[in-house]
Amino acid sequence: MSEAQHSSDSRGGPVGLSTSQIFLICAGATALAVVAALLLGKGPSSGARADAAEVEAIAARIQPVGKVTIKLEGGPVKTGEEVYKAQCAACHAAGLVGAPKFGDAGAWGPRIGAGFESLLNSALKGKGNMGAQGGGDFSDYEIGRAVVYMANAGGAKFAEPKAPEAAASQ
Ligand code: HEC
Repeated sequence: MSEAQHSSDSRGGPVGLSTSQIFLICAGATALAVVAALLLGKGPSSGARADAAEVEAIAARIQPVGKVTIKLEGGPVKTGEEVYKAQCAACHAAGLVGAPKFGDAGAWGPRIGAGFESLLNSALKGKGNMGAQGGGDFSDYEIGRAVVYMANAGGAKFAEPKAPEAAASQ
């Protein structure tokens, strides 16, 4: 009876929307609710379980890569003497299991004759009773320094190997 009622009636039907439009809106809202329920309910719990296992697996897988990166890109690089004392002296100090004894020119002489690259190769890959890197876990550069340190103590006059950065920039 009032003017307001009249004008709302005159717009006709339910607020001007067709039945199919209303259906679409309802369907959309329902779909959103289902998606939200899936995300909130199921998602996080199963996701969290997978994450923990996955993180462990990935950490185990990338660990060696991380070590290599640290060795190449920074961290205190060990001197030949430090590597020797930490790793090589175990056999070479006393000449165990057939190792050429530290400072023994007679034992080192023939080996030195083969050249630094040959000795480095043996130290990196292992030879006879010596495992790769003498069983250590160093950078190739550090092993090179240790070889120079040991060989020079046995009579060689090898120069310090170039640091990887210096070699790369030349
Ligand atoms: C488990 C004992 C052991 C350790 C630890 C060890 N060595 Fe040796 N090393 C040997 C033995 C044994 C030989 C002799 C191998 C042969 O000629 O059969 C040898 C030989 C060498 C040679 C001479 C290789 C050649 O071609 O004649 C070098 C260089 C060398 N070691 C460097 C190192 C360095 C550097 C380290 C430490 C990073 C190291 N070694 C640690 C046992 C060891």
